[in-house]
Amino acid sequence: MIINVVGARPNFMKMAPVIKALNKLDLPNIVVHTGQHYNSFMSKDILKDLKISEPDYFLNIRGGSHATQTAKIMIEFEKICMNINPKIVVVAGDVNSTLACAIVASKLNIPLAHVESGLRSFDKTMPEEINRILTDHISRFLFTTEESANLNLMREGINKKSIHFVGNCMIDSLKTFLPSALKSKPWEKFGLKGEDYALATIHRPSNVDNEESLQKIVEVINNMSKKLKIVFPLHPRTKNNIDLYDMKFSRNVICTKPLAYIDFLGLMAKSFIVVTDSGGIQEETTILKIPCLTLRDNTERPVTVDIGTNIITGTDSEEILKIFDHVINKKTNLNKIRTPVLWDGNSGMRIAKKIKSIYYDN
Ligand code: UD1
Repeated sequence: MIINVVGARPNFMKMAPVIKALNKLDLPNIVVHTGQHYNSFMSKDILKDLKISEPDYFLNIRGGSHATQTAKIMIEFEKICMNINPKIVVVAGDVNSTLACAIVASKLNIPLAHVESGLRSFDKTMPEEINRILTDHISRFLFTTEESANLNLMREGINKKSIHFVGNCMIDSLKTFLPSALKSKPWEKFGLKGEDYALATIHRPSNVDNEESLQKIVEVINNMSKKLKIVFPLHPRTKNNIDLYDMKFSRNVICTKPLAYIDFLGLMAKSFIVVTDSGGIQEETTILKIPCLTLRDNTERPVTVDIGTNIITGTDSEEILKIFDHVINKKTNLNKIRTPVLWDGNSGMRIAKKIKSIYYDN
């Protein structure tokens, strides 16, 4: 049996193509959902869009401090592993669920596969960076998305034979669902025509947990909205703090609850520009050829910057607004940019085939 782990929103788009490919190859597998993300709009609605059936186990862990969340997941996941004794555990990305389940599997000597391995922001104040580094160093199979990841892992002394460059599973999901996302025209629900708005998502603790940083973000978004309408789906972490500090957006900022996958993908594909601090969105905009401003000081996904869709703006408000003005005025043609190697929609199948060749082919 193969155990696929999901827990928080970005895991779903990365694991869906792996789960589908394992099923296509008739490999026995189950899905364990830790419940790190639990509201319908952060979990169930997205799984439904991705056509992933109900998870076999739902651990209902929910929020909490890093230690509480990680520890609770470990306790519950260990019981499942001991009961099922899987051949391999597959985790994805860099959330707390990823690390928690990775530790459990490796301590039980169950082979561990890490999807989206090797990315590094070189910023250890980010919880995700800790989760990535630790997960990589206890994984047996390191499935990477871009060349920088291969180099990072080798620099950290990981055996080259464990590194498998398979491309980007999140892009598999994008390619599968883009046609239906465009067909459903989600921008019309907001009274928009397409290409007449910016799409914003901000949820990193460094941007939203502290009042001063969040105030800066709200002002930046309000300023941008003088030039272009902004659609801003608010992550629970961001929404809680906006309410706590009683901050207000201008009229041209359309705030919504987090959107399910198809609606979000459609909105992103028809936006004029994206403003974010997310990881995956930097990659999705590269394939969609939409300019992306990343309001951070670094990225763990340098290929998106090399290709030219992504600009790391830093967090200085004036600088961000200068870059925003520049990008919306110059109307760069991104149509001719290249596609990162192996971001071709077949990454999930590459992973499934690797697992099959090692554990199921005699
Ligand atoms: C987590 C990941 C982050 C990822 C993000 C995507 C970690 C360390 N961070 O951050 O890398 O980019 O998910 O969304 O794993 N909450 C709800 N409803 C939900 C989910 C969360 O209200 O369905 C609340 C939680 O109770 C908590 C807050 O949102 O108060 C933060 O949730 P948490 O999972 O701890 O971290 P994220 O900020 O979502």
